[in-house]
Amino acid sequence: MRMQNKVALVTGAALGYKSGGPSIGSEIAIKLASEGAKIVVVDILEQMGQKTVEVIRKKNGTAIFIKANVSQTKDVKNAIEITEEEFGNLHCLVNCAASYEGDIFKNVAEIPEEDWIRILDINLNGYFRFAKYAIPLILKSGGGTIINISSAAAFRVLKNFSIYPVTKAAINSLTRTIALDFAPHIRANTICPGFVRIANSEGNRSPEEIEDWIGKISKSYPLKRVCTVEEIANVALFLASSESSYINGECIIVDGGRNISDTHEF
Ligand SMILES: NC(=O)c1ccc[n+]([C@@H]2O[C@H](COP(=O)([O-])OP(=O)(O)OC[C@H]3O[C@@H](n4cnc5c(N)ncnc54)[C@H](O)[C@@H]3O)[C@@H](O)[C@H]2O)c1
Repeated sequence: MRMQNKVALVTGAALGYKSGGPSIGSEIAIKLASEGAKIVVVDILEQMGQKTVEVIRKKNGTAIFIKANVSQTKDVKNAIEITEEEFGNLHCLVNCAASYEGDIFKNVAEIPEEDWIRILDINLNGYFRFAKYAIPLILKSGGGTIINISSAAAFRVLKNFSIYPVTKAAINSLTRTIALDFAPHIRANTICPGFVRIANSEGNRSPEEIEDWIGKISKSYPLKRVCTVEEIANVALFLASSESSYINGECIIVDGGRNISDTHEF
């Protein structure tokens, strides 16, 4: 049990979006629980957040759900307070919550300013807020780890999707400043996934449309498939546990080799 006697808080850990299918945060929460961690599931979606708790409890794990909007300081502070009241300690923070809502599939000239600012406040400042208010409790608990879920989009951008890579590149820098300022007590690292199959992004597509869409995306990856949520959760477990005890301030790209590949052939 690699997370025995540890307490981990995972934001964005509701079990899938509307359909209840997999999400990266819920899979990380379930994986850390399976290794003995007591889990605080945080999300804005109450029903789906409770579902993650149910899955963990069914497997004899320990978990609670706290509803919080990462863009609201009072919610974030409240989540940390409840964590301390309930479990006494916090050893691991996984920042995963992100919003894809609004008119955000736009270039810089076209994206509405309010959407730019709102996404910045959830997807970047939400990570900052949870780190800010969790760090004192992690230090009080004897130290621990922070894992920020970033994206391969921090390195390679998609056309007409301007705000998302900006937040992810900033998350990588946020992680490094935490890693330096709070060493040796806290190790902070990012995971930068390529395309991961989750319930939320499948939207209203039919099963055939989904397979066709995923098949097309898979072709651009050297491993000829997209990533599973479990493959990200495995990396999160490694970074949360003492197996990664000398890794600090790093960014682990989990994209099946796409980032190192060029587009043309000789
Ligand atoms: N799926 C991918 O291909 C992929 C690739 C790279 C990085 N990521 C990153 O992984 C993380 C998890 O995303 P996912 O793909 O599992 O998507 P997801 O939509 O299933 O999960 C995001 C979660 O964040 C929650 N959330 C949104 N706004 C919130 C708020 N204001 N307060 C609290 N919770 C809020 C949502 O309810 C949802 O449960 C994100 O940071 C995302 O950017 C995903």
